[in-house]
Amino acid sequence: MASLTRAGSVTVTLDGSNKSASLPLLEGTLGTPVADIRKLYNDLGIFTFDPGYGETASCESKITYIDGDAGVLLYRGYPIEQLAEQSDFVEVCHLLMNGDLPDAAGLAKFRKDVTYHTMVHEQLRRFFDGFRRDAHPMAVLCGVVGAMAAFYHDNLDINDARQREIAAFRLIAKVPTIAAWAYKYSLGQPFIYPRNDLSYAANFLHMLNAVPAEEYKVSPTLEKAMDLILILHADHEQNASTSTVRLAGSTGANPFACIAAGIAALWGPAHGGANEAVLKMLAEIGDAKNIPAFISEVKDKNSHTKLMGFGHRVYKNFDPRAKIMKQACDSVLKELGVTHEPLLEMAVELERIALTDEYFVQRKLYPNVDFYSGIILKAMGIPTSMFTVIFAVARTIGWISQWKELIEDSSQRIGRPRQIYTGADKRDYVPVAGRG
Ligand code: CMC
Repeated sequence: MASLTRAGSVTVTLDGSNKSASLPLLEGTLGTPVADIRKLYNDLGIFTFDPGYGETASCESKITYIDGDAGVLLYRGYPIEQLAEQSDFVEVCHLLMNGDLPDAAGLAKFRKDVTYHTMVHEQLRRFFDGFRRDAHPMAVLCGVVGAMAAFYHDNLDINDARQREIAAFRLIAKVPTIAAWAYKYSLGQPFIYPRNDLSYAANFLHMLNAVPAEEYKVSPTLEKAMDLILILHADHEQNASTSTVRLAGSTGANPFACIAAGIAALWGPAHGGANEAVLKMLAEIGDAKNIPAFISEVKDKNSHTKLMGFGHRVYKNFDPRAKIMKQACDSVLKELGVTHEPLLEMAVELERIALTDEYFVQRKLYPNVDFYSGIILKAMGIPTSMFTVIFAVARTIGWISQWKELIEDSSQRIGRPRQIYTGADKRDYVPVAGRG
């Protein structure tokens, strides 16, 4: 398996002194070379400053590769377009977690292992009763996944490879069950138990939509669309929630705690919460005739309004997931017989304007995956509050694969960034009577 190679060095000279440091230049299989700054403090007595980590490689990883300028996304080397077209979510889980596509027997075993773990401990059901009915399902998901550590004591030893593997299977298998129950709880409907005769996507849809009073048949169109949504969101290298999982994992925290931390980070509207925010934005715009006024508001520096579903830290050309999602959106609406979807028409018009407007062109702001995923999910009958939950269900495999990679990397240390301190200089405490 390819690893890091040395590709020369960069010399940094400290102005006004005769000190300089030679920083090794490291290269991976693909992508921008990185300067190894680990000896910089030792040699020059300085740290580096990179708020938001936009220019910093925080780890070595073999899982996912993004070329943001070319709009390329690879899972373990395989282009997302090929996986979206030819694979299915459980096979993608195997790929992300184990590094390769399995043979037929390996895939069958992996499917069985995931399926075997879909039920949750019956006592975990009681946790749901503690939440208000109107709780956001992301809050419920975060709380209940964190609570899993209290139920699965037998796989909390992160130094045992088999226990790590079981924890991974438990998370991949049980998160959809917990997610669907968070939704059922908000509706006041009975929880639907997992069905192991169904595919991963179909089982999830069944737990979301079935009721005990009548038979629910999962539509193949919805099953295919859900599977695609899961594949497209499965991993995305060192984004905010994945970095959160890795940072929590670097302390030795158990996998359930780490994934709960990832869910919390995903919830924000700048990250996974954007799919919900896109729908809210479209609803607020209300009509295509209001789009120009909305675009002016977005461009107004004082308004703090963003065009949700646009822009990305890494993609500066196009988000390949958005391209696939848009095509899927068109075919799902067609298959579902939706001929007139005002939200989609507004989204298309917003996209058209934004792609030609100088403000967006100059800043390289393109539609991201969340711009269209919300519209598909809405057409599939999924309520807006569940959009980010579905993202979390899909991303669980990415988080757990990245967590395993971190734990299995012998060079990993606790994550501990530095800072530039700009607070008060050292000063002496003054008793309250002597102040003012
Ligand atoms: N609408 C309007 N202006 C924007 C937007 C937007 N969506 N995104 C960035 N900009 C502007 C920003 O104001 C800045 O302008 P200026 O240079 O004049 O100050 C410039 O573009 C550069 O933006 P940035 O904030 O430095 O970019 P970033 O890499 O820090 O942020 C982002 C990336 C995704 C957080 C941001 O583009 C954003 O908030 N987008 C909307 C939320 C969204 O759709 N998030 C989903 C991301 S994809 C899925 C995921 O990661 O979960």
